[in-house]
Amino acid sequence: MSEKTILKLQLPTDPLWVKNVVESNIEEILTDHAFCEQKAASNAITLIVQNPSLSELVQEMALLVQEEMDHFKRVHDIILERGYILGRERKDNYVNELRKFIIVGGGREAQLIDRLLFSAMIEARSCERFKVLSENINDEQLAAFYHELMISEATHYSMFIRLAKKYAEEIDVDARWKQFLEYEAHVIQNYGKGETIHG
Ligand SMILES: [Fe+2]
Ligand SMILES: [Fe+2]
Repeated sequence: MSEKTILKLQLPTDPLWVKNVVESNIEEILTDHAFCEQKAASNAITLIVQNPSLSELVQEMALLVQEEMDHFKRVHDIILERGYILGRERKDNYVNELRKFIIVGGGREAQLIDRLLFSAMIEARSCERFKVLSENINDEQLAAFYHELMISEATHYSMFIRLAKKYAEEIDVDARWKQFLEYEAHVIQNYGKGETIHG
């Protein structure tokens, strides 16, 4: 399966990002990655708090929190194994730019669907970044780790799209997703140069 057909991302990450940026900044990347996992868990908790009556969503998010915090712990284990200490959280400009696309106002349904698609988008791009990392990084342990995480993020992406379709009544999820993809393609053009997972 190619991530292009599965995820429909419009701009692939240049593998040179791994060679030129990641490999000389592993400690930074691992800290940033750990906080990406923490933020994925926090986002799932927020979705529970905002939508307590959507039982299937609550169940899925409860599982997701556990899985993302397990990823966090595993990244943290690698950080410690390598003699590093988790650094401070860095701003994720990519995610902040994506967040601007979430509709303001527009009613409960529109808010929920956008939040789910925003989450799906981050999972999709993270999945793509992990694939590029796993295929290009000159580090056996991290190559295997990122391969495994790539599969898990692809599953999360599909779950968020499925929930969006389940809870949409008026909104055309496919059409809105297409707008998200177009916006993301525009945002990601400025990335692929920094020593963060989405950088
Ligand atoms: Fe994760
Ligand atoms: Fe995830």
